[in-house]
Amino acid sequence: MKEIKGTTAVCGLIGNPVEHTLSPLIHNTLSELTGEDLAYVPFLVENEAVGEAVRGAHALHIRGLNVTVPHKSAVIPYLCAIDPLAEKIGAVNTLVACEGGYKGYNTDMPGLYRALVSEGVALEGETVLILGAGGVGRAVAMMCAVNGASDVYLLNRTISKAKEVADEVNAAAGRDCVTAMALDGYRLLPKKKYIVIQATSVGMHPHVEDAVIKEKDFYEYVGVGVDLIFNPAETMFMKYAAGAGARTMNGLKMLLYQGILAYELWNGVEVTDEQAKAVYQRMKEAMGIHE
Ligand code: ATR
Repeated sequence: MKEIKGTTAVCGLIGNPVEHTLSPLIHNTLSELTGEDLAYVPFLVENEAVGEAVRGAHALHIRGLNVTVPHKSAVIPYLCAIDPLAEKIGAVNTLVACEGGYKGYNTDMPGLYRALVSEGVALEGETVLILGAGGVGRAVAMMCAVNGASDVYLLNRTISKAKEVADEVNAAAGRDCVTAMALDGYRLLPKKKYIVIQATSVGMHPHVEDAVIKEKDFYEYVGVGVDLIFNPAETMFMKYAAGAGARTMNGLKMLLYQGILAYELWNGVEVTDEQAKAVYQRMKEAMGIHE
């Protein structure tokens, strides 16, 4: 058990709900491994109290906060600065104390990028299919555009929403690389193996039998199938993709790296690959994943 002293720095998470978060495990393990005198705690914050929470955190000299659902966009008006990537994405998941308040960053998407790199998946020059055009799908489309994917197809149940998001992302990225499609739009694409990123909440616990696309022929197009869900560890999307011969990964590594990037911002340290592996191991144990 960590000894809390007068000098211990505090970081935390604001969200609603926060009970099931793995972030305290990530950051308290990192503090143990890197020797940083830091304690990380979850804070339940109601929707109408986001501004007060940010001001209060600043008054308490809280070094940094993570922000989760449903506050990732709502928190932006209460920040004194915002990183350009977070601004483009329109969502913030990390606040870093600065003069007069907090600066907002998005480490979710760089975290996903680092997770892909760690698995040997490169986006440069690739065609990527994204399932879902909500806040997460939008952020993933931006991440792909920023990191040099040649073409991004944004497949969504409501095509008008995908079109809106594609226009926004193309404008922010400064190039027309994102195309909106209906969920069955993949049939119009050349039959090849693509990187496919599942960015909806369909298939998340307890709805583990659901997948946003159930048609078997879709999975013939999946070369690498990435589901941003990590509970269950293997979603139906991943099962179908693996059944069609694809490599699959879930969202646990993205969660790991978004945490590591936040920790590095707060503490000015660099987390080693070995430390990252040790944290990932503990996350898998906490999720009951045995490989
Ligand atoms: P988030 O911010 O987490 O992305 P969201 O904005 O509610 O959440 O978006 C959820 C995404 O999942 C959307 O792309 C949604 O499709 P619609 O735009 O058509 O609503 C998609 N989604 C949710 N439930 C779905 C379902 N049962 N079938 C297909 N798509 C679904």
